[in-house]
Amino acid sequence: MKKDIDWSNLGFGYLKTDYRYVSNYKDGKWDEGTLSTDETVTLHESAGVLQYAQTCFEGMKAYRTVDGKVVCFRPDMNAKRMAETAEYLEMPAFPVDKFIEAVTKTVEANIDFVPPYGSGASLYLRPYMFGSNAVIGVKPATEFQFRIFATPVGPYFKGGVKPITLRVPDFDRAAPRGTGHIKAGLNYAMSLHAIADAHRQGYNENMYLDSQTRTKVEETGGANIIFVTKDNTVVTPKSSTILPSITRRSLMYVAEHYLGLKAEEREVYMSEVKEFKECALCGTAAVLSPVGKIVDHGEEIALPSGMNDMGEITKKLYDTLTGIQMGRIEAPEGWIKVINE
Ligand code: PLP
Ligand code: COI
Repeated sequence: MKKDIDWSNLGFGYLKTDYRYVSNYKDGKWDEGTLSTDETVTLHESAGVLQYAQTCFEGMKAYRTVDGKVVCFRPDMNAKRMAETAEYLEMPAFPVDKFIEAVTKTVEANIDFVPPYGSGASLYLRPYMFGSNAVIGVKPATEFQFRIFATPVGPYFKGGVKPITLRVPDFDRAAPRGTGHIKAGLNYAMSLHAIADAHRQGYNENMYLDSQTRTKVEETGGANIIFVTKDNTVVTPKSSTILPSITRRSLMYVAEHYLGLKAEEREVYMSEVKEFKECALCGTAAVLSPVGKIVDHGEEIALPSGMNDMGEITKKLYDTLTGIQMGRIEAPEGWIKVINE
């Protein structure tokens, strides 16, 4: 029985679901893991996460497909990326097979919260890990907790697939994301001022440039970026300091193998952005959100695709990706993990 939720009007927020997965790491190993109904976490006052922000997370989704199955999109990629982030932060990896099992258990336990096919909503999953024992000298924790909670969500940006406006933030006030290639809590904390400031000024998101030269496009606060050239090549910034988006990697594959387009990962200079005909943000939460306008310190770049609709290529990419996720289009081998038939 589905829960009594207005699925089509969900925003991107937290809604408590019945179960979350919890596993603890102590004496060099992870325990069995369990499902819990308690959404709160009680921590030591000197826990590594509270003192030195030793924490990382992932974001992924479960979908209900056209034929009524519940599936996850490429969970192995999230598992691997989280293990890389954990290594970078001196945390133990949560093994890939255990991660996929934990995701499966969390979705199965909350199956009634997976939004119906066609509602535009999905079940967002948030795996995360943090240092839980007391540390006071600057050093890693030795005990950790891994958790996954689930929450049904609608579109990340209000208005669904309406084009949004980005601005290039002023780096004198906002810290650059820096080590954005890992998905760590501290990276996001450093971007909160810039995000709140963008919203106060009427922009949907920040488009960060590389912090070294401030000439190359990086990504936004919560998503990677793609552009489309006038001759329909899909271009995405090459950078070692952005989060390697799973959605972006999937879209580049879709562009080449499903749509027969050229797809290039290369350095993208701010000075060439005005030459592109389409721009969109891509990510698990953002899916593919079209950009209508980019404001760079007073200079306005209006994308030819405009403020009303998705550009033509963006729409094709969006339809193909979401078609694969919702089971309308055959997926490449290994992209879809069936949770429940
Ligand atoms: N970049 C940032 C900063 C993000 O927070 C996200 C969201 O996870 C992404 C990119 C997109 O990554 P993915 O497509 O793996 O969700
Ligand atoms: C995601 O797309 O999963 C994200 O993590 C973006 C944001 C909500 C942090």
